[in-house]
Order: sequence, then structure tokens, then C-alpha cells
Amino acid sequence: LETTYRLPVIWEHYQECTCCSESFIRSDHPIVADIILENISLDYTETLMAASGHQAEAAKHDTMKKYYGDYILCVEGSVPMGADGVYCTIAGRTALDHLKEAAEGAKAIIAWGSCACNGCVQGAKPNPTDATPIHKIIKNKPIVKMPGCPPIGEAMAALIVHYVTFGRLPELDRMGRPKAFYGKRVHDTCYRRPYFDAGLFAETFDDENAKEGYCLYKVGCKGPSTYNACGSMKWNNGVSFPIQSGHGCIGCSEANFWDNGPFYER
Ligand code: SF4
Ligand code: SF4
Ligand code: F3S
Repeated sequence: LETTYRLPVIWEHYQECTCCSESFIRSDHPIVADIILENISLDYTETLMAASGHQAEAAKHDTMKKYYGDYILCVEGSVPMGADGVYCTIAGRTALDHLKEAAEGAKAIIAWGSCACNGCVQGAKPNPTDATPIHKIIKNKPIVKMPGCPPIGEAMAALIVHYVTFGRLPELDRMGRPKAFYGKRVHDTCYRRPYFDAGLFAETFDDENAKEGYCLYKVGCKGPSTYNACGSMKWNNGVSFPIQSGHGCIGCSEANFWDNGPFYER
């Protein structure tokens, strides 16, 4: 381990719920332990590192200095721009401050999850903190967007392994998302698609058609307008995904999905 090069990574947390990290650590192919112990040197992450306080800040600054221009910056969460950024402070400094500092020497930035990519729940109306995604603040670095609330753990792990293996970012679409995971709509790989094509729909969540497993489009499924790999990769090590569990896709990897209606009114 001492002689093997491991890609230096700084993983920042701003306005978020940490479920992107939770998703990542559950990837089982590749196993995250292998990535962390063999492929990367995760020098700073508030949720997984043993150090805290001044030690943690020192580790981050050491990496920024020693690997200037060579480390990968991962960002989980949005940046509050309102009230001079005071809604999210770490070590007495605003998230905006931390982001600008860490981005300066980064080779590339990975925006984990919908928070970092489009503001997600904090950015929903009325967006009291002025939650802002990473690409609207940092304009001079390559940014890979991995939207989803959270993104699929195996897709997150695969992105890192791709970078470590090939030394470059994967092919991205015009939105900055890896084509391998966001090239198709959930609708394109959904196992209920034959029912959609045949015009067979659940009309309510508990009718006979729902029990038959018919298409969930009429009960609000957003699969036809959502780009993600849930239908093919699935979740929990390939066990299932929202539609397989009986609920339509709420479009969690698309911008503004909170404002576009995952909720019910009675
Ligand atoms: Fe949590 Fe969703 Fe934000 Fe990830 S994108 S940190 S899962 S709220
Ligand atoms: Fe498309 Fe949703 Fe129907 Fe699946 S359940 S076929 S994603 S509309
Ligand atoms: Fe999200 Fe839809 Fe997949 S809600 S987890 S993109 S099926």
C-alpha cells in the first residue's frame, strides 16, 4: 500500500442529508472498502474519516498543498448563497469559502447527488437559503454531475474506479452526466414497459391493475422524463428499485423534482 499510488480525494459536505455517502458505502461491486483502501486516498470526508476538528482541517490542507492540481474534489450538497453563506459553516467558514478554496487545486470535481447538481430539496421553493448547485459557482474546472437523491451506489463507485483505471473522466452527456448511467430514461429499461406499450395501467395504487403489476404512469410515474440507470442497475445490490417496489419514479435525478410533485394531496 505504501508504494502504490492512490488517487487523492477530498470529499466535501455542504447542505445535504448524507444519504449520497450512505449510498456510496453500500456499493458491493466494486466494494467500497477496496476503493478506499486500494484505489484512492480519501484524505478528507466529514462522515468517514477518523480525524476531527483541527486534525481533519490539517489533513485537507496538506492534500490541497501537496497534490495541487492532481486531486479530485467530491462535493455532496448545495451551497447556500443567502445571508452571506451563514446557513452552512464548517470550521467557522462558509461552504462557499471552502468550495472555492478546495476547487482551486482540484483536477476535476464530482458533484454527488441532486443537491450538488441542482439544489434538490434545499433548492425547492421558496429556497430560503438560496441553495446553489456547484456548476453555478465553479466555472473553470471539469465537473461531473451524478444526480439522484441519492445516486446509485454502484454508479458512484464505478465513476471513481473509471477515473483511477483510465486516468480520465468517462464520456459525459451535454448536461455533464456520465452517459453510461444517464444515457437512458428509467422508462427505457423499466420491466413494466410492455404494459405501457399495451396501454395497461394501474389507475390507483390499490386496484386490480396495480396488483397485476401494470404500468404506473397514470399514478404519477416520472420514468418517461427521468434519466437514470435504476431499471438496469437497480438498487441494494441489484435487488429492486422504486417501480419494482410498487411506486412510480418521482424523478429524483432530474432538476426541480421536489417542485414537480412527488407529494400527494388529499
Ligand atoms: Fe441527501 Fe438527496 Fe442531497 Fe444526496 S441528493 S445529500 S440523498 S438530499
Ligand atoms: Fe414507464 Fe413508469 Fe410505466 Fe415503467 S412504470 S413503463 S417507467 S411509465
Ligand atoms: Fe430516483 Fe426514479 Fe430511480 S425516483 S431512484 S430516478 S426510479
